[in-house]
Amino acid sequence: MSAEPAPLATPYRTHTCGQLRVDDDGRDAKLAGWVHRRRDYGKLVFIDLRDRHGITQVVVDAADAPEAHATASRVRSEFVIVVEGAVARRQPGTENPKLATGAVELQARMVTILNEAKTPPFYLNDPDAPIDESLRLRYRYLDIRREAMLSRLVMRSRLVHAIREAHHASGFVEVETPNLIKSTPEGARDFIVPSRLQPGTVYALPQSPQQLKQLLMVAGVDRYFQIARCFRDEDMRGDRQPEFTQLDLEMSFVDEAAVMGFVEQMVIEVSRATVPDRPIRAIPFPVFEYEDAMERYGSDKPDIRFGMELFDLAPALTGPDGSPASGFRVFDETLAGGGRVKGMTGPGLGGASRREIDELTEIAKRFGARGLVHLAVQPGGELHGPIAKFLAPETQAAVRAAARAGEGDLILVIADKAETTNDVLGRLRVELGARLGLADPNELAYCWVHHFPMYQWDAEHGRWDATHNPFSGVVPEDEALLTTTSGDLDVRDPGDPAGRAKAMQYDIALNGWELGGGSVRIWNRDLLARSFNLQGYSIEQMKERFGAILEAFEYGAPPHGGIALGIDRWAALFANQATIREVMAFPKTQSGSDLMLEAPSAPEEEQFQELGLRFVGVPEKR
Ligand code: AMO
Repeated sequence: MSAEPAPLATPYRTHTCGQLRVDDDGRDAKLAGWVHRRRDYGKLVFIDLRDRHGITQVVVDAADAPEAHATASRVRSEFVIVVEGAVARRQPGTENPKLATGAVELQARMVTILNEAKTPPFYLNDPDAPIDESLRLRYRYLDIRREAMLSRLVMRSRLVHAIREAHHASGFVEVETPNLIKSTPEGARDFIVPSRLQPGTVYALPQSPQQLKQLLMVAGVDRYFQIARCFRDEDMRGDRQPEFTQLDLEMSFVDEAAVMGFVEQMVIEVSRATVPDRPIRAIPFPVFEYEDAMERYGSDKPDIRFGMELFDLAPALTGPDGSPASGFRVFDETLAGGGRVKGMTGPGLGGASRREIDELTEIAKRFGARGLVHLAVQPGGELHGPIAKFLAPETQAAVRAAARAGEGDLILVIADKAETTNDVLGRLRVELGARLGLADPNELAYCWVHHFPMYQWDAEHGRWDATHNPFSGVVPEDEALLTTTSGDLDVRDPGDPAGRAKAMQYDIALNGWELGGGSVRIWNRDLLARSFNLQGYSIEQMKERFGAILEAFEYGAPPHGGIALGIDRWAALFANQATIREVMAFPKTQSGSDLMLEAPSAPEEEQFQELGLRFVGVPEKR
């Protein structure tokens, strides 16, 4: 990456606070910035002057510049000042190797205060000082003056720049799509905006540009991308905000391999340009079938920086006739009832204390399991734990072999419905991986998970729900499965062949987070009608929901597919942060508030009148 160009000289400064070096010794310079720190030794005042480019030490000597010294004595932290003077090498032994400018100082002739500043509500010059997050969000403009926050925003800017470069180099066209649109369901609630010109109607803010980008494919744009703001009214978590940014893209005349191929290459280029010091674990990125990922990692966004894969204990627990015969009732009943008994081996955890085991059990229960079985491998191979006595020596040996566990290891087992077993073990794996420090924090471990089930059964409505986007395509070899047992698409039941159909749906995961997801779409009208029918909608009903796109499909839609990657998540992972708030300039709190702007707020009465609106059922003062 090329070095950042220095800003042009202005009446306020000739250089930035990060620019001066030994080569500048003897030269006149003028710097402007914020007072980072001031040390007053009577006749000598030292000021660390800061701007976003760095910090330069300023020395003001009463003997050389009495007026400047008088002014310097008045400045306080965060005052905005201009300093003019001569650059000089620092005395040997007083250099500061931590600063890029640390070999020199600016000997002031003139100090001018441009603006005074109140005492900030938290220390800006101590990177380790713990600061309450709500205070940081309330005074975000001060928080961003801190090196840690600022450098993350600069990194994010590099990320977006690299994304744009990679797409332009591959013939993509950046198109802006509107934010005042009609609902584009992505599974969350819409934010709505009432229309003044058409009272009684609302716009929806886009949950994603999904339909618009598909329309751009019908329009012949061929390769589209956008850094798109999306809005979803859903519960917040560390990796979710109501307003967030996607790298959204769509390509025409492609199959799954073409989209995944481009995205992988782009992701590699962008990673190398943005965080060149972080190694990518595996190229090409590993690709997992959805079922395989669930089976091995209990997750559709596996963290593959460490092993600790899940294993199936059914073969070890069943007798020669195939019936459950472990001797432990919970295992046998779970297997007989169609559930799963699976496990995971904690390397070297055999000596875990009662308290540690209780903690893991609590976590498992919180994740939805009925309980957690633990078996420690003793010297000689015997298993130790509350249920070990039920397992015959051959069963113990078979369990140990399936677990690939040796002396000193801990085998953790869940027996439950298939989904619960995988999910809980998957989460425990992540929890244990973190506790044991198994993942290299520097590594970028990208992987693909694809071929999700096309539908899941919606028992309440007696129909098949699309697991992702209702326009996702089915893998070509499963097209014939888009039907029902009876052949009548209006008579659906959970045993229909459609339940086995796999979607051309792919997610990209990074270090255990879902980074992005997309699909090759259904562009063939006959398949689309069949798919909608399985989802309980006739084409006519779908037209009410997705009118524009269905109409457009009547005018010639090319085969197309795409993906969207969460830029906030990508930046957070690049910066090794646990929440996306740390890479957003002005994020919202858990309850959706902007503490700085004090949004949301009650509307003005006049705004309500213009819109013909009034609140009902909310307390007058909140
Ligand atoms: P999806 O809903 O999977 O797909 O979203 C794609 C990516 O967007 C990010 N993301 C979020 N980031 C922060 N806060 C949120 N609330 C949030 N919700 C989603 C995630 C996610 O992987 N239109 C489809 C894409 C397509 O099919 O082309 C879509 O939006 O990183």
